[in-house]
Amino acid sequence: MAKVWLTGGTGYIGSHTYVDLLEGGHTVFSTDDYSNSSPEVLENITAITGKEANNYEVDICDLEALEAVIQSEGKIDAVIHFAAFKAVGESVEQPLKYFKNNLVGLIHVLEMCKRYAISHMIYSSSCTVYGNPKELPVTEDTPILPAASPYGLTKQMGEDIILSSLMDAGIGSVLLRYFNPAGAHESGKIGEDPRNAALNLVPVITETAIGKRKEMAVFGSDYPTRDGTCVRDYIHVSDLARAHTLALEYALEHVPSGSWDVFNLGVEQGVTVLEAIQAFERVSGQKLNYKMGPRRPGDVVAIFADASKARDRLGWVPLRDIREIMRTAWEWEKVRSR
Ligand code: WQD
Repeated sequence: MAKVWLTGGTGYIGSHTYVDLLEGGHTVFSTDDYSNSSPEVLENITAITGKEANNYEVDICDLEALEAVIQSEGKIDAVIHFAAFKAVGESVEQPLKYFKNNLVGLIHVLEMCKRYAISHMIYSSSCTVYGNPKELPVTEDTPILPAASPYGLTKQMGEDIILSSLMDAGIGSVLLRYFNPAGAHESGKIGEDPRNAALNLVPVITETAIGKRKEMAVFGSDYPTRDGTCVRDYIHVSDLARAHTLALEYALEHVPSGSWDVFNLGVEQGVTVLEAIQAFERVSGQKLNYKMGPRRPGDVVAIFADASKARDRLGWVPLRDIREIMRTAWEWEKVRSR
């Protein structure tokens, strides 16, 4: 069993991974400034697992405060680095905010690995590193094309920074390229809980359905896809969390210092925006109030994963489909809107 540091451990993917790691018998702590989460997530992680969850309220860009925490924690085996901004559309409007937080934050984590002999880093990367892929599905060997957004560029640069720093930081690293995380924990106690209005499709759907928004817009209906709307590979956040625990254990066992590996994490199904909306309407029994709107700058037309490498090497099998994503997302929306 390992002692694991999560950056952004009270965030959406971080909190679900926190649960999975505790259930897997690992020792875990988090640093998170609550810029996109809240302290009550910790109580809910404890309620789900029966184990104490703790977080240091620290900005990943505050090196001094970060170091004080890491120094106090003694031997740490690995860090899973979640803490980053992740909204494609927002990154187009505020690129500097994204470069600062996502890259300076990463460099600080690498510094901590170097100074405190943290031997492994699991990095929260993204399918956005592929840009607009020419062939589908994408494998880990699909050529990296120019990023379609500053967010995607921070993930491409993040990967390059890690691979260039393996020896200097003294780490082995596994890069996890997420496709589109969505859904919520089956307990209804944790889920995507953005501080501001949601930007991603699934929470926008549930916020519209519950009445927080009058209607939602489908960003573009003239794309060269089967129904004119963008194609994505939606992966349930609990399946994604499981993949992190498996990747951590794989890294500690098979990725020695100075080396790295990379895995696509998707369910290998392409779903259009309209199909996602229809899946929600079927699951919830509610008509959704949406209109067809203009394209969103920075959007990729279509992308979905070939995840056979994660299946074969990590023994990872996603269990939940788009219906379960919509069911759990809707249950969670009703809880968080009480
Ligand atoms: C999905 C589709 C939108 C909102 C996300 C994460 C990013 C990365 C990849 C992990 C697009 C459309 C959306 C709306 C819409 N994941 N849409 N109306 O941009 O694919 O990126 O997955 O790292 O972190 O942000 O996700 O949910 O914003 O968009 O029509 O109100 O839904 O145009 O086609 P995206 P998204």
